[in-house]
Amino acid sequence: MKNRQLGQKLYIKTYGCQMNVYDSGRMADILAPLGYALVDGPEDADMVILNTCHIREKAAEKVYSELGRLKRLKTAREKQGGRMILAVAGCVAQAESEEILDRAPFVDMVFGPQAYHRLPELLAALQRAGKAVLNTDFPPEPKFDHLPKDALDPGAAGTSAFLTVQEGCDKFCTFCVVPYTRGAEYSRPAEDVIAESGRLAAAGVREITLLGQNVNNYHGAEPPGTTRAGSSGTGSLETWGLGRLIRELGKIDGIERIRYTTSYPADMNDELIAAHGDVPELMPFLHLPMQSGSDTVLKAMNRRHTADDYRRLAGLLREARPDIGLSSDFIVGFPGETDADFDATLGLVEEIVFVQAYSFKYSQRPGTPAAAMDGQIPETVKSERLEALRDVLDAQQLAFNRSCVGRVLPVLLDRPGRKPGQLVGRSPYMQAVHVDDPIEGPGAIVRLAITAAHANSLKGGVEAQEAGAEPVEERATA
Ligand code: SAH
Ligand code: F3S
Repeated sequence: MKNRQLGQKLYIKTYGCQMNVYDSGRMADILAPLGYALVDGPEDADMVILNTCHIREKAAEKVYSELGRLKRLKTAREKQGGRMILAVAGCVAQAESEEILDRAPFVDMVFGPQAYHRLPELLAALQRAGKAVLNTDFPPEPKFDHLPKDALDPGAAGTSAFLTVQEGCDKFCTFCVVPYTRGAEYSRPAEDVIAESGRLAAAGVREITLLGQNVNNYHGAEPPGTTRAGSSGTGSLETWGLGRLIRELGKIDGIERIRYTTSYPADMNDELIAAHGDVPELMPFLHLPMQSGSDTVLKAMNRRHTADDYRRLAGLLREARPDIGLSSDFIVGFPGETDADFDATLGLVEEIVFVQAYSFKYSQRPGTPAAAMDGQIPETVKSERLEALRDVLDAQQLAFNRSCVGRVLPVLLDRPGRKPGQLVGRSPYMQAVHVDDPIEGPGAIVRLAITAAHANSLKGGVEAQEAGAEPVEERATA
């Protein structure tokens, strides 16, 4: 390849959601054939990519302070006769494009989440032009068709991997930038997802987390040649929903755990709920953002679900899988939110009971409808509400963690802990579990007796591990 230079060092810093983590991996895949290898820090990197997040103001502002630090490194490198290519990718790049070059003129490349498959072209253009290049197109061709298929570095995949199956969002919640930064909803064909899962499994991955901004609205083209009951299987273009896809992925040898995130309540369908009951690989955990417990606020947010809808869904999910752990996102201080609205949120949280959750103060995002709404809530009120909500959510999480003490849980060990010899893994319910004296290495699913519970983690012991015994998932349903 023409602009291939061996031994180049690439540092990617990832902000925000899991999809950015996935995208950063793909950027590394694309740059590997050009001679770029990943390094752990920016200090002597030849290229630095900030893969950014625009969801809340704080997330976006972090990028500019990081750019300030990188500018010093870049200047120092240039003084020594070297070069550091500085790129801003992701949702801040998409949303602010030229503004980034105005605020940080030393940046060399700015490209959005739908343009990163063009990195080799952008690098070539940078070399030709000698000045900053910018690409925030939403290219008509889905980028997934242009990503390397065989670039998976088995070591890089780890034991648990993200896999984007759906991207973009057509929901337009009035507070959210995602429909503007990620573009319209798109689902990858089922065949591609199955093939990528197979490659991950072959590389040693045992758990996959299917990603999408509205992952439960997945509707990818069914694999060619699929035979369907009551149909000839020819001609018409049929699609698979997420439940159907998960069923198929569960059959792949080596894939023992499947998760998906993030789901939109109104898109939870019967097939997917049923999969929670009868696909053993599908973990009993679901992140299902509620945002608010007040119907007035939900309507103003354009969420298309009510408090009652959420109650009903939680009930159906628990019917399908009684031990399912629910997680959620909440926004406090949305424009117009009254004390009574906020109390409705607290009330619904008390009623549903979550095993973990994320809560945020509403952040006004330029260009979104809610930013211009009357009734913006003072910062002090937002802070008070956030604290009150977090108290309840933290208590629920701790209570759930404590309820696990004395149980035996299958834990997928996936990384070293802080103490020598310690390993950390995940329970089926996404809790971090520490084990001091593991007898198996990362990648193993071991049955651990839970001995202690903390706010954000559990402690487990290997005494439950019978030599040679197959790990058996604890299941409440057959
Ligand atoms: N479906 C998406 C949700 C994206 S944003 C996904 O793929 O994850 C993640 C969470 O950030 C949202 O659920 C919401 O709770 C929060 N969020 C989004 N916009 C926000 C804003 N303007 N202010 C505060 N929180 C926000
Ligand atoms: Fe954002 Fe709502 Fe879509 S939170 S990602 S607009 S479902």
